[in-house]
Amino acid sequence: MQRTLVKDAHASAEPRDSILLQGWVRTRRDAKAFSFIELNDGSCLKGMQIIVPDTLPGYAALMHRAATGASVEARGRLVASQGAGQKWEVVAEHFAIVGDADATYPLQKKGHSLEFLREIAHLRPRSNLFGAVFRVRSRLAYAVHRFFQERGFHYVHTPIITASDCEGAGEMFRVSTLDAANPPRDAAGAVDFVRDFFGRQSFLTVSGQLEGETFACALSNIYTFGPTFRAENSNTSRHAAEFWMIEPEAAFLDLFGNMDLAEAFVKHLVRDAREHCAEDLEFFSKFVDKQLAARLDFVLERPFQRCSYTEAIEILEKSGRNWEHPVAWGDNLQSEHERFLAEEHFKCPVTVYNYPRTLKPFYMKVNDDGKTVRAMDLLVPGIGEIIGGSQREERLDVLLEAMRAHNLNEKDYWWYADLRRYGTVPHSGFGLGFERMLMFVTGVANIRDVIPFARTPGSAEF
Ligand code: 4AD
Ligand code: MG
Repeated sequence: MQRTLVKDAHASAEPRDSILLQGWVRTRRDAKAFSFIELNDGSCLKGMQIIVPDTLPGYAALMHRAATGASVEARGRLVASQGAGQKWEVVAEHFAIVGDADATYPLQKKGHSLEFLREIAHLRPRSNLFGAVFRVRSRLAYAVHRFFQERGFHYVHTPIITASDCEGAGEMFRVSTLDAANPPRDAAGAVDFVRDFFGRQSFLTVSGQLEGETFACALSNIYTFGPTFRAENSNTSRHAAEFWMIEPEAAFLDLFGNMDLAEAFVKHLVRDAREHCAEDLEFFSKFVDKQLAARLDFVLERPFQRCSYTEAIEILEKSGRNWEHPVAWGDNLQSEHERFLAEEHFKCPVTVYNYPRTLKPFYMKVNDDGKTVRAMDLLVPGIGEIIGGSQREERLDVLLEAMRAHNLNEKDYWWYADLRRYGTVPHSGFGLGFERMLMFVTGVANIRDVIPFARTPGSAEF
């Protein structure tokens, strides 16, 4: 007999004479002539109530073993439920234990702290919260592909191992084939990285952008979606050393077209989650963030705001706030400033653009003022920066000059410069942090709780 998922059983239009469910026991409650078992299989938030009558052979021994966490299967009739909050329940005609779980099973019905659940990252997907988070994560990954594929963007697999530091922040993890105990040394005794992987220094990628640009300058519209790595030792709720990024890149697109694309993309993801993960989002609204539903509605209903970096600085200076990090033209916006702009000033997602050239990587297009570049950051309430992007410098001479200003070796980026040598075009792109997007859609406040196995300082046990 074929297994039915709990989700499909709940969606059944009529009773069924015979149904087979398989999953894990969430709770068991024993009554006089039968036991109630809540069986959960991860297909949806709600478990299915199974009624096991005491007339089943071996009833007492079976119920003794049907403890929270045990895997079980139940075959029986799907019937209308008398209980509140559920349409159907299953009256078991056959019930079996597949795998026992003893009393050390750490997930009990009572609420556990997020910190505790992080320590059992291998079991936390069985909890309501994490089941919901990871169903939404899966759905949104699919929605990412749908959005771009339906718009004619091609998916490009950019490399994980690379020699280039796209963001120039020096936050790269080294990939090495060197024998750490006995590395080759040059004449002066220094470790000889020339003999490292590929005959040069290699790293885990911080961004697929530079390689993505080569494909945009051929296929016109492309996107990447993969893991990226940053060796920043920042212990915040928004930074991970390994995170997933979506990076579209489009030829013949300017900065404002790029902003339009980013806005349509974020709205598409919110709308998709609303439509396809309604039950899970309701759970987040109830137990994680009471403002969530209102915030997501708001995002869908209105156009995002836009303001230049220079205007943003004026707003911050005029705010009369006592900033922890005082801010003036030329300074990086800190999280407190980003959140003020999105949460208190605009009360809406806002794209800040035209940042000082000194704050941004070498590849951004320089504006006519010579001081600013065509950068854009999308800031959202509750999180701050969720997207970073720009129009790229397509003029060879200006690009080479920027490389020198950033102390980059032109020879290392000859292939990148070639894109400007042969048929250069204006082009733009951006990167959306997938985990930050998930935090925004679920209301979950810590990045460690929206990625299956968080790679943050001090968390590599799994
Ligand atoms: O602003 P970033 O560094 O931009 C880039 O990497 C560009 N190359 C993207 C492009 O234009 N193609 O990173 C983009 C986004 C950020 O806005 C943030 O959402 C996320 O990636 N991000 C992180 N997410 C989690 N942990 C970290 N350590 C992150 N660093 C960046
Ligand atoms: Mg950024």
